Amino acid sequence: MNLRAPAATPFLLALALLGAGCSGGVEGTPGAVGLRDPYFPGLGNGGYDVTHYGLELDVDPAADRLRGTATITARATQDLSAFHLDLAGLDVEGATVEGSPAAVNRAGKELTLRPAARVEGRLRKGRTFTTVVRYSGSPQAVTDADGSKEGWLRTADGAVALGEPTGSMAWFPGNHHPSDKAAYDIEVTVPDPLTAVSNGELVSRRTENGRTTYRWRTVEPMASHVATLAVGRFSTRQSVTPDGIRLFTAVDPESDAASKDVLDEIPAVLKWAAEKFGPYPFTSAGAIVERTGDSTYALETQNRPVFPGPPDTALLVHELAHQWFGNSVTPATWRDLWLNEGFATYAEWLWAADQDDVPVGESFDAAYEDEANWAFPPADPPGAAHLFDPPVYGRGAMVVHRIRLAMDDDAGFFALVRGWTKAHRHGNASTEDFTAYVEEETGRDLTELWDAWLYGKSRPPREG
Ligand code: TRP
Ligand code: ZN
Repeated sequence: MNLRAPAATPFLLALALLGAGCSGGVEGTPGAVGLRDPYFPGLGNGGYDVTHYGLELDVDPAADRLRGTATITARATQDLSAFHLDLAGLDVEGATVEGSPAAVNRAGKELTLRPAARVEGRLRKGRTFTTVVRYSGSPQAVTDADGSKEGWLRTADGAVALGEPTGSMAWFPGNHHPSDKAAYDIEVTVPDPLTAVSNGELVSRRTENGRTTYRWRTVEPMASHVATLAVGRFSTRQSVTPDGIRLFTAVDPESDAASKDVLDEIPAVLKWAAEKFGPYPFTSAGAIVERTGDSTYALETQNRPVFPGPPDTALLVHELAHQWFGNSVTPATWRDLWLNEGFATYAEWLWAADQDDVPVGESFDAAYEDEANWAFPPADPPGAAHLFDPPVYGRGAMVVHRIRLAMDDDAGFFALVRGWTKAHRHGNASTEDFTAYVEEETGRDLTELWDAWLYGKSRPPREG
């Protein structure tokens, strides 16, 4: 899936010129250098749609080195003469497109690849082509607009890759915008006694000469910001839930005792959430728990959220709810992030109501009284530094609850929510898709609700 190729803004034009090299390659036009995301205009790339990433990585945390080969299968969405990949740090050793060496230009986080003349015709609109990038180096952390660290984070005994919103380009080249979801095969070799944990299912593990190769497979579409890799000493557990979901948990030994009870709740939480939100969208689940302080934030990495230390149940519920809201139904752009955080926060309220006898109305009231939730409207954060601020979470959840109140029909409300996750399962959706869907399904004009709770600057009266 991909956004349409945008018209160039001056900023993107400048980037495109920086990336432009010699001409005389294959017929077509260069893919856009960014997808014009409202918050990260240069993020992602136009002209193609990735269908599969094959990553072969060799990670040596002691030497602080990563060596990788990324095999990227993509479909051209225009006749491409050249195209871009996002990669932060690391050195590119070489690249091929359709088996022939391609010219690679580097300008900051943008790689420009120019296919060789002999692959003429292979990057025509609609055709699927393969790119191989060999790269290596010492992967780096990326500092978010709000100051938090992501990308490649060193831990006490290894490293963990966190990618929301823009960190995944710190460990593999790709189309790093949430609109381009793909399947992944991630193969990682690490020195013993370390374990490499990633998304999806563990297909094989092979040890040779003191190094073990773990092969992880994600068949359902995955946005790159929820791809992960954790390398370190881990206590691992594998099982299958009564519903047939394969569980894999990996816990830092120092967090193991304190995590056991909460991780044992995963099957019950998934079952509860499936009743509310519709069938669990993936074949596997689990968690990665780091040593306290080893990562900065919890993240809903697909199938297997990462926690920066033993989570409490509310945080577990939040990250598991993201498997529906964020990972299966993924925002079309970063402006639509409230669809993730609003629903994940609302899931916490629902859990508190069902399990701890805290009525949802009470959670709503507490959020309503909290000044921090009123800094800006959830559908319009005032900049990338504010994407993860309280209004996106708390006021986002208030929007969901106002829909429920407006419907005044709990069965209908939950059917609406399940219909939403079904309609966009394994896809992308925008705020406008959501409001149109709710109006269509309820047969009501909810303009006032959206204006007051979703887009309005000031705090609306609680009644009415
Ligand atoms: N999406 C994460 C969650 O709610 C939190 C998160 C991701 C975050 N990236 C961030 C918070 C950057 C602050 C800054 O579980
Ligand atoms: Zn969240």
